[in-house]
Amino acid sequence: MLKTIGVLSSGGDAPGMNPAIRAVVRKGIYHGLTVYGIEHGYVGLMEGQVIKMTPASVGGIIQRGGTILHTARSKFFMTHEGKLKAMETIKKFGIDALVIIGGDGSYHGAMDLSEYGVNVVGVPGTIDNDIAGTEYTIGYDTALNTIIDAVDKIRDTATSHERTFIVEVMGREAGFLALMSGISCGAEAILIPEIPFDLEELSERLLKGIRRGKNHNIIILAEGVGKASRIAPLITEKTGLEIRISVLGHIQRGGTPTYLDRIMASRFGAAAVDTLMKGERNKAIGWKDGKLRVYDLKEAVSFKRKVDPELYELSKILSI
Ligand code: F6P
Repeated sequence: MLKTIGVLSSGGDAPGMNPAIRAVVRKGIYHGLTVYGIEHGYVGLMEGQVIKMTPASVGGIIQRGGTILHTARSKFFMTHEGKLKAMETIKKFGIDALVIIGGDGSYHGAMDLSEYGVNVVGVPGTIDNDIAGTEYTIGYDTALNTIIDAVDKIRDTATSHERTFIVEVMGREAGFLALMSGISCGAEAILIPEIPFDLEELSERLLKGIRRGKNHNIIILAEGVGKASRIAPLITEKTGLEIRISVLGHIQRGGTPTYLDRIMASRFGAAAVDTLMKGERNKAIGWKDGKLRVYDLKEAVSFKRKVDPELYELSKILSI
């Protein structure tokens, strides 16, 4: 019978991780479970950084970005020795199941742990929104709003000075942040890892706009395509345009979670506990077709979700 659960956040932090932790703790306690918080993700799991959570220990955090449990990325955890150390902690504290809040890398870690006999449930927490089997990951909405706010400000300068800007956003393998912020900000061009970078096409597009009377451009670049500092001179060489660069960096990961992230995090966290209460094993929580979804963790790590190419085409049509 399920008596004790642990919760940890892992990988890149995402706004909404705190409301998710809060939901796991309070829903767990509501069901009479003992809930442990594991600090610093898998590092804390290996090193026994475990704290007993109470309803009060998650008070006043729903509006806070980041994660009160801290987070980490660990190479050592990927080794057999690392997993054995994690298992020692799990046994020591009598943890029956773990709720893992994180992105793709954290899900792979969870999958590995499940192979050592640990029951795990994944809660999708990453600004990248690239986890298979779910249309939403915690932090995505807040990050998008942060990008939109920044790009709108940059556009003021771009129009005043009649300049071209490249705004580099996060997304190593998936272009969700770039594409959706680009559409939302009316970017003149969007470069994402899913679509091969075509310098000729981009340059022609920018020049066409200028011939039609456009006097400024915003290019949103996902970091996975390449560094803005490398791409800007290539465009300048082809078009003669002087380009300014803004790399948004980690401001995209911070900030107070939006309404959507608070609600999704609360529902995902509670659903993770419900899933464990039902005796399910090695599941992931997701969102599909407007509903919560519980599915196999195996599916969640089977591939990385990519953007819809139709939306990319739309972005081109709307930004002529
Ligand atoms: O996975 C979230 C993410 O923010 C990615 O978009 C980005 O490529 C990466 O993390 C950056 O990681 P770090 O903060 O470790 O440099």
